[in-house]
Amino acid sequence: MTLDPYPPPEDLGEILFTEEKISARVAELGREISEDFAGQTPLLIGVLKGSAIFVADLARAIPGPVELDFLAVSSYGEATRSSGVVKILKDLDHDIADRPVVLVEDIIDSGLTMRFLVEHLSAQRPSALRTCSLLVRNSAEVGGVTLDYVGFRIPASFVIGYGLDVAQRYRNLPYIATYRQG
Ligand code: PRP
Repeated sequence: MTLDPYPPPEDLGEILFTEEKISARVAELGREISEDFAGQTPLLIGVLKGSAIFVADLARAIPGPVELDFLAVSSYGEATRSSGVVKILKDLDHDIADRPVVLVEDIIDSGLTMRFLVEHLSAQRPSALRTCSLLVRNSAEVGGVTLDYVGFRIPASFVIGYGLDVAQRYRNLPYIATYRQG
């Protein structure tokens, strides 16, 4: 049986980050986080669904203890994006008061989700709140939010793989590539 190529060649643009390159960068981020939180048990909070793959690898790149929790937020259309509204669809299972927290995203695109979540989580008084994103757009506007751990900065192109999707497809690609639209 011959399988169709996945993604089909007409969808696949340039490979920006290979599996090896991602893995090397995730290992570095894991080392930085473990040094910064030495002697503590940070709670890694992944934002579903895009960050699921990254947070799973990041957790395993940290040799010491970590705990995991997940948030789900609404994906918004253009109208709500510009109005700055993000809705929480699934909140945390953990109480984060006095806990060290690392908020983990796959991508910061406009910056709206990250800005909203930092405010939402800060209000719960964690002992530390650091931010981590595998990808950050050059054009992202994060306001006063500090981006503590960044994998790669990228220009404005539609990207797929390693958690990033098009209509829920391609999250399972081991690399990150541009998506050819139309
Ligand atoms: C993506 C990404 C971030 C958000 C970033 O999630 O995972 O959560 O968009 O965009 P912003 O910086 O413009 O706010 P998406 O809504 O695509 O859902 P998904 O994670 O389920 O793919």
